[in-house]
Amino acid sequence: MRVKVIFPLCLVLVAMLPAVAQAQVDRMSLEEKARCVVGIKREDFPPTNKGICARTAPFPAYNIPTLALADGSSGVRLSRRETDKATAFPSNMALASSWDPGIAGEVGSAAGYEARGYRIHVFLSPGMNIIRNPLCGRNFEYFSEDPLIAGKMAAAYVRGVQANGVAACIKHFTCNNQETNRSHVNTLVGDRALREIFLKGYEICVKEASPWSLMTSYNSLNGLPVQENHDLVNGILRGEWGFDGLIMTDWSISDHNTAAQLHAGNDFFTPGSDKQMQDIIGGVKDGSIDIKDLDRACSNIVRLCDRTARGELRPVPDLSLGAVASKKAACESAVLLENNGMLPLTSGGKAALFGVRSYRLVATGSGSAYVVCPYVRQIYTAFSEAGVGTDAELQDLYLKYADFASADIAYNEKVKVSIGLPLLPELDLSRTFIDKVAERDDYAVITIGRSSEEGVDRFLEDDYYLSETEKKLIENVCEAFHAKGKKVAVVLNIAGIIEVESWRSLPDAILNVWLPGQEGGSAVYDLLVGRSNPSGRLALSFPVDYFDCPSAMDFPYNHPKEGKNYDQTSYSEGIYVGYRHYDTRNVRVSYPFGYGLSYTDFEYSNFRVKKTGKGVSISFAVKNCGNKSGREAYGAYISAPERGLDKPARELKAFGKTTLLAPGESEQVRLEIPMSSLASYNEEKGKWEIARGQYLVRIGANVRNPLLEGRFRK
Ligand code: BGC
Repeated sequence: MRVKVIFPLCLVLVAMLPAVAQAQVDRMSLEEKARCVVGIKREDFPPTNKGICARTAPFPAYNIPTLALADGSSGVRLSRRETDKATAFPSNMALASSWDPGIAGEVGSAAGYEARGYRIHVFLSPGMNIIRNPLCGRNFEYFSEDPLIAGKMAAAYVRGVQANGVAACIKHFTCNNQETNRSHVNTLVGDRALREIFLKGYEICVKEASPWSLMTSYNSLNGLPVQENHDLVNGILRGEWGFDGLIMTDWSISDHNTAAQLHAGNDFFTPGSDKQMQDIIGGVKDGSIDIKDLDRACSNIVRLCDRTARGELRPVPDLSLGAVASKKAACESAVLLENNGMLPLTSGGKAALFGVRSYRLVATGSGSAYVVCPYVRQIYTAFSEAGVGTDAELQDLYLKYADFASADIAYNEKVKVSIGLPLLPELDLSRTFIDKVAERDDYAVITIGRSSEEGVDRFLEDDYYLSETEKKLIENVCEAFHAKGKKVAVVLNIAGIIEVESWRSLPDAILNVWLPGQEGGSAVYDLLVGRSNPSGRLALSFPVDYFDCPSAMDFPYNHPKEGKNYDQTSYSEGIYVGYRHYDTRNVRVSYPFGYGLSYTDFEYSNFRVKKTGKGVSISFAVKNCGNKSGREAYGAYISAPERGLDKPARELKAFGKTTLLAPGESEQVRLEIPMSSLASYNEEKGKWEIARGQYLVRIGANVRNPLLEGRFRK
């Protein structure tokens, strides 16, 4: 009875929020409203707040507090200085490989808890653009090449953050898929690709998790800056999807049209300038700005204050909680790519740890996503903490080299230096030396690392492709160890896809841990020795070669300074992004979407496909038939009937992961696919349509390896 009374009362109070906010805004002067949407200048931040990236203005007379905005993507970014620390979590690209939105939710919740404890109201995370091309410098901040995975992961992350009374901010809306000329590039995207691929993840996240804020991107879309696109922002985002939060612009663009940005639906101008204040005041006075747009923006800011800034103050966070969540997520996100009987390591013995990243792990990416974390657990220390012997001479050599190279790079700045982490070239070891190491040690682990950052795209040479030194290192270590009957594992500590085809057959195992966060080293150790059973599956495809990628030529891969792919990039691949291209056109890949190995085996049975009122219900059983506990990720791929609009060979429409199953244990799985998710966007008619006929459902995470098959009719 009590619940019945309280529940409607809550709804009434929430429904009243816009009216209350509007009443507060009505009392403001024009200057105050302009200040409200432009915020406080950085110079005027309280001294304790230099690390955050924006603040809204407080208006004590109207009971409107200030909001603090801090960066994110891999954790709360409090400062560029080594002072305020927060947990570094695995990057979003890693989290997506868990194929478990629950993991993204736990990380969101742990990051939100830290944000709240540090008095942050808006956490500028998660990034959630589609991974369109392997070289985008910020791919590591994004989830997947598939909009369903991106949308579901982002939704879970947002719910986790917001459960702490902190606003998540999904970004960068939309089609911001390259960093080269990111502020002005014009992306040409057809309506179908826009709706089905580039907007879909946002749509899912907005409808399922109601994020309290969103950031519009710098780029233009089909000739119009996204930030000035009324049909997209106020129309699709607010109107069609019902987004009811605050919309802010991406940072520091002074050449946009303030009136158009405001009218399009942006509420907060970051970081805010005097020019924008004057534009707004002048615009309202001369009639080029409708006061209703300004009032809407101010009420959305006030409403965000009500959502985030009125709860109890929490103590400074206990970072040990974040560390636990970070390690768990790193283990769940790792993808075992190869294993010819080497892993898990059971026989003990002494390890030869090669590669500078075995000693200087890339925990997070750089740019605004870089997190100043309390420590980074290194791979070599995780081995020694577990009492496993490692090669002392190698350790000494690499540590000296890492210190020398970092100092040298920072000093002469010849090599690109990220805010967080210098790119360390790999050390060139002689074959004679490697032979000696192979003689005395029992097995080798080579770590290959890649960082990446905002504002610049990745390079093909020495980045997407391994450097000559790295190739030689893998070849020589594999030859030397194999000659002695000893095994070699490669650990990938990477911010994005790299070329693997030319060398992946050389080592005995390849474990990809992405950018695994501050606990990366101990996660690597646990995975190698089988304390944790790898259960990650790729949420993006590894092509055989960069030029197999559908957007290869329509991307600034050679870093042009002007012209094609600099001023304008055509998304000519349409909806055929990632596996939708490789799979439909039978292009061989090194590792397909959904691929990943385990230390155990699973069996699928009891398959049922049933049409329900709203869609299709699928059920099946998954049994662990191996001899190690493990989790199994699964997906449901749908092939549409061949009529109506052309369709990819198959598309992921539902996915999930079992709980940890002990050997012999089974789990009954149920997946629901709403009929509406089978629709394609007909750009000529401007509407969604579902083809009639027979649909094929295939079960299995790996898009190329169906384990069960069934059919239903629409
Ligand atoms: C980035 C955003 C970031 C903002 C604040 C911009 O340059 O694109 O992702 O949140 O800076 O640091």
